Amino acid sequence: MVLRMKRRVTVENGELMLGGVPASRLAAEYGTPLYVMDEALIRKNMQAFRDSMKEFYGDGLVCYASKAFCCKEIYRIAEQEGLGVDVVSLGELYTAKSVDFPMEKVCFHGNNKSEEELRAALEYGVGRIVADNLPELVQLDWMAAEMGKKAPVLLRIKPGIDAHTHSFIMTGQIDSKFGFALETGEAMEAAKQAISSPNLQLLGIHCHIGSQIFQIQPFVEAAKVMVGFIGDVKEETGFEMTDLNLGGGFGIRYTDEDEPVPFGDYMGPVSEAVRKTADKRGIRMPFVLIEPGRSIVGEAGTTLYTVGSIKEIPNVRTYLAVDGGMGDNPRYILYQAKYDMLPACRANAPADHFYTVAGKCCESGDLLGENVPLPEMQPGELLAVLSTGAYNYSMASRYNRRPILPVVMVKDGKSRLIVRGETLDDLIRNDL
Ligand code: LLP
Repeated sequence: MVLRMKRRVTVENGELMLGGVPASRLAAEYGTPLYVMDEALIRKNMQAFRDSMKEFYGDGLVCYASKAFCCKEIYRIAEQEGLGVDVVSLGELYTAKSVDFPMEKVCFHGNNKSEEELRAALEYGVGRIVADNLPELVQLDWMAAEMGKKAPVLLRIKPGIDAHTHSFIMTGQIDSKFGFALETGEAMEAAKQAISSPNLQLLGIHCHIGSQIFQIQPFVEAAKVMVGFIGDVKEETGFEMTDLNLGGGFGIRYTDEDEPVPFGDYMGPVSEAVRKTADKRGIRMPFVLIEPGRSIVGEAGTTLYTVGSIKEIPNVRTYLAVDGGMGDNPRYILYQAKYDMLPACRANAPADHFYTVAGKCCESGDLLGENVPLPEMQPGELLAVLSTGAYNYSMASRYNRRPILPVVMVKDGKSRLIVRGETLDDLIRNDL
C-alpha cells in the first residue's frame, strides 16, 4: 500500500482504491462516468467538526451545508452523526423531510424564498429560518400568524469581511445579494422589526463570508463583528439574541498546492474571539452553529471517467477527452477550479506529460483542467479526478441531454448505489 500525493489516496498494486474497492471494479460494475463517495471519510469529517464544537464551545450545532452534495443518503448520514443541516431550497428541504430528518435541526436559507418555501418551512417545523431581507420578515410574520405559529428567525448579516476567494463565492462583503448590511443600519432595523413582530421569535444572527477560504483571520474578524452586533442590539433594544451561526467556507485540498487548515485551528481562535467579545459586551456566550459543506464531502468524492479521443495539436496542446465533462463537473468552466487527476489503474506512473482534459459537450470551454500532469494516456484508460465530492453532483446539468451520473458510496471494501444514474427515458420523461 502506497500513499500517493500529500492527500490520502490509497494505491494497491498500482491501482487507486476507493473505500477499499479497486477503481476498475467500480467502473466495471457501474460504468463510467461515475461519482464515488467515501463514506468513512464523510463520517470522519462530520465527527471531527462535531467533536471540535464540543471541545471549543461545549455545545453548539454543526449543520452540514447540503448544497455541497444533496441526496437522501447524505441526510441519513448527517442525522446518524448528530448533525443538523443547512438547506436553501424547497428541493433540499423536501429531500431532508423525505428521510424524516429532524426538522428542528434544519437551518433554512435563501435570498429570495418563495411563499411556498416559507410555508413548507413553517409547516414542517424547521428549527431556524434565516431571513434575508425586510419584506421577508413581514411576509414571515403574517404567514406565521395565519398558520398559528411563531417563526424561529435568524437574520443573515453581511459582516463586511473580505475573504480571499473567487469573487463568485465571496458573500460577506457589502456588495452581496445576501443579507442585511451593518454599515447602513439595515441590520439594526431588521433586528428591531423582528423583535417587535408578534409572530416572529428572533433567535439570532447568521453570516457566511465565502467558500474555499484558507485563512483563519477572516473568520475571527467576522466572529468579532457578529458578536459585537448582538451586543449592539442588546444595548439599543434590551433584547439579547442567543444564536450565532458563523456559516461555512473552510477550504479543502483540490491539488497538492492547497494547504487546508485543520478544523481545530479555526475553532480555537474563532471561539476565543466569540468568548472575549461576548465578555467585553456583557452578553452571554451565544449558542454557536457552523455550516461546513465542502469540507465534509469534497475530498470524499472521486469521479471516474474513461478516456476517449486524444488529440495532439503540435506546439499547442494535447486534448484528452473523457466521457463526461461540464455536465458532471462545471467547476472549471465556472471558476477555473483545479483538480488532481491520475490514471486509476497506473496510479504510480510518473506524470511526465501535460494534457488539457476535455469533456464531450458541444462547447470549447467544456474542460476539466489545463496543463494537467499525467503519464502518457491511452484511449480506454480510466481517469480519476479527485476531490469532486462537493458542488459537482449538486451542480450537475443535462446540457446536450447528457443524463445525470449515478453516485456510488464505498466503505470497507464494499460499494452501493446511493443515487441511480438517469436513463434516456428519464431524459424525456417530462417532455410533452
Ligand atoms: N452556509 C451558507 C449560507 C452558504 O451559502 C454556503 C455555501 C455554506 C454554508 C457552505 O460553504 P462551504 O463550507 O461548502 O464552503 N458552488 C461553489 C460554492 C458555493 C458556495 C455557496 N454557499 C463552488 O463550487 O465552489
